[in-house]
Amino acid sequence: MKASRLYAYGAVDQFKYEDVPTPVAGPGEVLVKIEASGLNPVDLYVRQGYLAKNIPLEFPAIIGLDAAGTVAAVGAGVEGLVVGDRVVAKLPIGSRGAHAEFAVTTPDRLAHLANTVSFVAGATIGLAGLTARQAVDVLNVKAGERVLVGAALGAVGRAAVQYLKELGAVPVALVRSESLAEAQTLTGETVAIGAGTPKSFHKALGMAGGPVAGAAIDMLADGGTLAAVAGVPEGANADGRVTIVNVLAEDRGPMLQEIADAAARGELTIPVAHTLKLSQLGEAQTLLTGGRVGGKIILVP
Ligand SMILES: NC(=O)c1ccc[n+]([C@@H]2O[C@H](COP(=O)([O-])OP(=O)(O)OC[C@H]3O[C@@H](n4cnc5c(N)ncnc54)[C@H](OP(=O)(O)O)[C@@H]3O)[C@@H](O)[C@H]2O)c1
Repeated sequence: MKASRLYAYGAVDQFKYEDVPTPVAGPGEVLVKIEASGLNPVDLYVRQGYLAKNIPLEFPAIIGLDAAGTVAAVGAGVEGLVVGDRVVAKLPIGSRGAHAEFAVTTPDRLAHLANTVSFVAGATIGLAGLTARQAVDVLNVKAGERVLVGAALGAVGRAAVQYLKELGAVPVALVRSESLAEAQTLTGETVAIGAGTPKSFHKALGMAGGPVAGAAIDMLADGGTLAAVAGVPEGANADGRVTIVNVLAEDRGPMLQEIADAAARGELTIPVAHTLKLSQLGEAQTLLTGGRVGGKIILVP
């Protein structure tokens, strides 16, 4: 098969597009033929080696966490998946990732993908959906509650808005002032970063760090809670006025299926800004590094 492999921590010139042996599904494993793979911000840190201490890569490494495709083979003992099934995959950080024509994984990292959802769309939802749902769950949100969503137009932010609506809650988008009109199409109520009423929410989601998380904290009432998936500015909650819960997404099979089902119902859509070839992983990561991408970057074989 073809894969874009990383040969060492460092710059994007460490990626090489090449022929590698197609992996084989062992007992309890599934071989997926990947039709689309998605990039995430964390991929940049993986490439640069910032996660090397906790999750060292084995070089040459195939990185990438999100994929969609079809089941190509199932190992002994696998139930509920057969060859030809359309699936979305959320792979772990490591060396057997998504930026290849095939990947081997376990069934708990797969969910069935409806015929009505394209592979490209399927490759946008895994990590973003899991992160969003786990952050919202921290807040124990009830129907009718208003929840501030920092960076609502990002991938994780959009997935959070969808899940909050599914729960019957009321998402309020906290975005750049120039993005208010776009956010209005997603949520009924929007607030520009820096222009919100202080202490006006009890629950908030920090779906980006820096000024987004800082503004969300300012808008939380005393005793309120921020579920943060990215960093919070130093000193932003120096007096401990609010509770900050840092969320690190875990792989959960049933939850991944709920996310794929939301996509099948047409409720969860994450825009795709660029679709590039699998051979262009370096260019794709360079685009992501620049920021302000406006949607997902997807690779196709
Ligand atoms: N903890 C976890 O398990 C976990 C999992 C997934 C992601 N994450 C983190 O969550 C964050 C979002 O990920 P994502 O995949 O949703 O990324 P994304 O699709 O690129 O979305 C990021 C969003 O944040 C906005 N944003 C960033 N900086 C901003 C600023 N200074 N002011 C206003 N808006 C700003 C962006 O708006 P513009 O496009 O206008 O800049 C964009 O809408 C990243 O930091 C990522 O590393 C954490």
